Amino acid sequence: MSIAIKTMEDIEGIKKANQIIARLYEDILPPYIKPGISTYELNQIVEDYIRSQGAIPGCIGVPGIYGAFPAGTCISVNEAVVHGVPSKDIILKEGDIVSVDTVTILDGYYGDAAITYPVGKVDEETKRLLEVTEKAREIGIEAAIVGNRLGDIGHAIQSYVEKNGFSVVRDYAGHGVGYDMHEDPMVPNYGRKGRGLKIENGMVLAIEPMVNVGTYKINMLPDGWTVVTKDGKKSAHFEHSIAIIDGKPVILSKKD
Ligand code: MF3
Ligand code: CO
Repeated sequence: MSIAIKTMEDIEGIKKANQIIARLYEDILPPYIKPGISTYELNQIVEDYIRSQGAIPGCIGVPGIYGAFPAGTCISVNEAVVHGVPSKDIILKEGDIVSVDTVTILDGYYGDAAITYPVGKVDEETKRLLEVTEKAREIGIEAAIVGNRLGDIGHAIQSYVEKNGFSVVRDYAGHGVGYDMHEDPMVPNYGRKGRGLKIENGMVLAIEPMVNVGTYKINMLPDGWTVVTKDGKKSAHFEHSIAIIDGKPVILSKKD
């Protein structure tokens, strides 16, 4: 396993790719997250914006078990955890949650970030799911310091999520990112303190807890892409790309 240590120049490039996603999530998408819109239409908006910024949507054409991913971004509604395939038949309704997970490629550098939006008014448990998942990402990022190991990130995320009565998905994880969409190391959202690889300056990592209301177990839909919870309960996903600089995490996918 070889881990790419990035230069400051590379980190600047990776940040630019991520800033497109940051603007997309903060400025572009929110007005469209409304009952009645399809995930197909949301994907169109994502692709158009990425291209308008001179970048390439990274998900299109990624090889899968039955074929390439057919869209520019992954959109996963309610019990869909990750890798939801945008569709004209999936229409948002009041009380849903929708996760958008986007990869951009700009000047050869990769950005990767995810967000889960509520659609209109959601119930109390769902609201808490979103809050806990976003906070779990923050807590995971705070553990990404020189002196810690990858297990400290996973442990911080897992213990916070489970203390709040939810579960973390085991079968998908965070990862190195920047020169490629997925690089070593894997960054699981569960783990044990003091275990795993040492965190070092120049690492660029995607920290991305996927949190379920019920069981952490998942199934794959027959499309070969969409990952859903085994019990059909809701799942949320928040992801940032970060760089370790001067011993500390710097978030690249938060809007400047
Ligand atoms: N950010 C997603 C991931 O890390 C991107 C997947 S693109 C897909 O898995 F095409 F593979 F779905
Ligand atoms: Co990712």
